[in-house]
Amino acid sequence: MKKRILSGLRPTGKVHIGNYFGALSNWVKFQKEYECFFEVADWHVLTTDIEHTDIMQQQIIETVKDWLAVGIDPEKAVVFVQSGVKEHAEFHLLLSMLVSVPRLQRNPTLKEQIRDLGKEEEKISYGHLGYPVLQTADILLYKPEKVPVGEDQLPHLELSRELARRFNTLFGETFPVPEPILSYAPRVPGIDGRKMSKSLNNAIFLSDTEQEVESKIRKAFTDPKKIRLGDPGHPDGCVVFAYHNLVNKEEVPDIRKNCESGKLGCVECKKNCAFEMNEFLNPIRERRKNLSDDFIREILKQGTEKAKEFASNTMREVREKMNLWR
Ligand code: TRP
Repeated sequence: MKKRILSGLRPTGKVHIGNYFGALSNWVKFQKEYECFFEVADWHVLTTDIEHTDIMQQQIIETVKDWLAVGIDPEKAVVFVQSGVKEHAEFHLLLSMLVSVPRLQRNPTLKEQIRDLGKEEEKISYGHLGYPVLQTADILLYKPEKVPVGEDQLPHLELSRELARRFNTLFGETFPVPEPILSYAPRVPGIDGRKMSKSLNNAIFLSDTEQEVESKIRKAFTDPKKIRLGDPGHPDGCVVFAYHNLVNKEEVPDIRKNCESGKLGCVECKKNCAFEMNEFLNPIRERRKNLSDDFIREILKQGTEKAKEFASNTMREVREKMNLWR
């Protein structure tokens, strides 16, 4: 029997190379070893973005197109939409009785989000405070042994582990306590050197055209001390060098040497980087082209049905153990 994993991402539309190297590339590998559930966490988007529901449907389609284009295989993995499985909402309600408000307020990922959004703490919605409780419902309903996540999600998973234990103590052994898988995930800088993020306008998207990639890399932040050809460069801290590391591994030692000695100038180095990035993206673009919106909808419909079957069995068990109406 294969072990089961579950992971999710918020459907923010176009997927960027930071999302790919941080999470998706690992998901693709996990499909061989594990029974996989991959969730489109659309309800989670509402915690920070309640004003843009008009684009939600399209965001879901675009996101999942990118997932399939990089190699998520709906024959191997269950790809489903959170809001299509209402059991998540029911379980979220029940779990919300097992956690205190101060416990949720202590969540460092929430604090970071509040800071990034420039919000005041008092304006945080009840739903946003409960973000990791909903995430726990997502996870536990599928009883996975493991949950691959990025580092920022570890505090959420810690809560999921606490809630699993608490449920088991109160109502009898029901949920395996899920283990995080913290895969090797390079921190991918955006073209301006900050963390790559859609909202910071510094991302390279999997669906960018060749010209867009060239133009973005041409503008990318490099070593500010290297002004003209011949100046010795410092590849650590250079965005373009970080990209070479992702898509042009074999040449990295030479690039480092020639950058540091001054032999390699930034113009040539960027051209080379854009070329390699496009080589990497071309097969993804090709697969993406062949995926229609209708096909994606059909995949999600089937995946969501499978997920629902699993989740509704778990919920039946939960209602029984908690002596709720059934
Ligand atoms: N919170 C995750 C993120 O921001 C998305 C997510 C929702 C998730 N449900 C999950 C991740 C369950 C792992 C497991 O990307």
